[in-house]
Amino acid sequence: MATALSSMMLHTPVSSKCANYMPAGVAYSRSSCGSKAFPTHISIASKNLKGASPSSALGFFCGEDYTLLEGHGKPSLPRKVNSNQSSPKGQVRAAAYNIAVLGAAGGIGQPLSLLLKMSPLVASLNLYDIANVKGVAADLSHCNTPAQVSAFTGFAELPDSLKNVDLIIIPAGVPRKPGMTRDDLFKINAGIVRTLVEAAAEHAPNAWINIISNPVNSTVPIAAEVLKQKGVYNPRKLFGVTTLDVVRANTFVAQKKNLRLIDVDVPVLGGHAGITILPLLSKTRPAVEFSPEEIEELTVRIQNGGTEVVEAKAGAGSATLSMAYAAARFAESCIRALDGDESVYECSFVQSEVTELPFFASRVKLCKEGVEAFINADLNGLTDYEQTALEALKPELKASIEKGINFVKQSLPVAA
Ligand SMILES: NC(=O)c1ccc[n+]([C@@H]2O[C@H](COP(=O)([O-])OP(=O)(O)OC[C@H]3O[C@@H](n4cnc5c(N)ncnc54)[C@H](O)[C@@H]3O)[C@@H](O)[C@H]2O)c1
Repeated sequence: MATALSSMMLHTPVSSKCANYMPAGVAYSRSSCGSKAFPTHISIASKNLKGASPSSALGFFCGEDYTLLEGHGKPSLPRKVNSNQSSPKGQVRAAAYNIAVLGAAGGIGQPLSLLLKMSPLVASLNLYDIANVKGVAADLSHCNTPAQVSAFTGFAELPDSLKNVDLIIIPAGVPRKPGMTRDDLFKINAGIVRTLVEAAAEHAPNAWINIISNPVNSTVPIAAEVLKQKGVYNPRKLFGVTTLDVVRANTFVAQKKNLRLIDVDVPVLGGHAGITILPLLSKTRPAVEFSPEEIEELTVRIQNGGTEVVEAKAGAGSATLSMAYAAARFAESCIRALDGDESVYECSFVQSEVTELPFFASRVKLCKEGVEAFINADLNGLTDYEQTALEALKPELKASIEKGINFVKQSLPVAA
């Protein structure tokens, strides 16, 4: 277990940086003090830079194919980041960020909290759930890593769990059972997300929010509406976590093509349910040739990865461990951006102008203030297969987004 987690933490930042956005290759180095498992600085592996060119590795930074958000200049070129930039040579960067996990006692919440506890950048970890969270926190608190762990049980303790947090991660809700779609979860999870985001708006209005609870295609618009009603909506800080789709796409493509997993990057756009998940296999890095049969098989497998796990678990829930891995990767990317790393890119379901839909998953560049830019280039030069799939997903995604918006609009207004 320890070995698996150690290697995961070493690989997570690699895939979130180089997999999506740094094909030139970025690798975390091991710490020279404390737990050897901790990534403490990032170094660009020069061997991987060979052959990288603006058009292949860094092209989308250099051209005009991105949309900047107001108040920001052109995205900067990826830079080398290491611990020496903000801490004396050889020292681990200080843990500085406070995270709340809402739904922390669940199948995703527990392993996610463990992975976050391993991050050297996390100062405090507030674990909130309606039940069973005290033991989880006690257990985790014995790990000799810097993050201070606290338990918060029940609605009355929710406000305290949100005080001074920089990032709120929400995996609260019910998971899918065989035969259920993500939309079947709507009735229960919509209300849970609404309540938790209301509290976030009141007690941590400036925090970044990562929504994991399904259906993400609806729960993110729900969160946006709640935050709007509360007058604290900042679209740059609200994220639907679709990282598991990217993680699956990278894994399945690497397996199929016998590639080194760590090198593979497949952007996944659109939404986070069935056909709304749009893996852009033509944009796979390194460049790979796929037969039409392979494209069909891989696309369907990536879209149904969640169902594959739901059926294998046969009623015992949905993806939890791979989801925790993906959510930890995304959270780590958010914290790194907050910490001033200027080369953080992830796919996420966000408020968007990349297509005509108000929310859309695409690659985004993160900065200290949240989303800095959209990487529009991914939608240029799609294959006929991808273009058809893009058009086909729009009606379903639009309906899911509207369902979320209407859920809040038709509910009683949120008390100020
Ligand atoms: N985004 C993704 O890629 C992805 C992948 C897998 C699962 N999910 C979703 O994540 C969610 C959680 O899945 P899980 O397997 O961890 O489920 P789980 O049932 O194991 O855990 C959910 C946890 O949420 C808690 N909870 C329920 N209502 C709550 C509330 N009002 N406030 C706080 N906590 C509350 C429960 O007590 C439980 O501990 C589900 O909605 C699932 O569909 C998303």
